[in-house]
Amino acid sequence: AKRFKVGRPESFPEGLNFLAERRLFVIRQGGEFYAISANCTHLGCTVQWKEGVRQFDCPCHGSHFREDGSVISGPAPQALAWYALALSPDGYLEVDATSEVNPEYRFTPPKRA
Ligand code: FES
Repeated sequence: AKRFKVGRPESFPEGLNFLAERRLFVIRQGGEFYAISANCTHLGCTVQWKEGVRQFDCPCHGSHFREDGSVISGPAPQALAWYALALSPDGYLEVDATSEVNPEYRFTPPKRA
């Protein structure tokens, strides 16, 4: 699916959360959220977050990406994708993988009644 629910906003711990089954990072900063694809833009391996150096590393051919997904060094030709988020009517954070956004993007789930 190109659009999928990843969990209730309140269920995400602060900071970076790796969703292995979706190959996706969901980052929470207080009340704000954003999502970065773990799909390496070289040949599609899953990048790994390295907390010590605060960057994403690809285990396949050694690409490195900054915290915002931009390329530090290749062979990856472009930055990791950022995806738009939404809140589903039943209160789940929803990722729209058809909608890429830039690294200034932040989503604040609306308060529900
Ligand atoms: Fe990531 Fe090649 S697939 S560097």
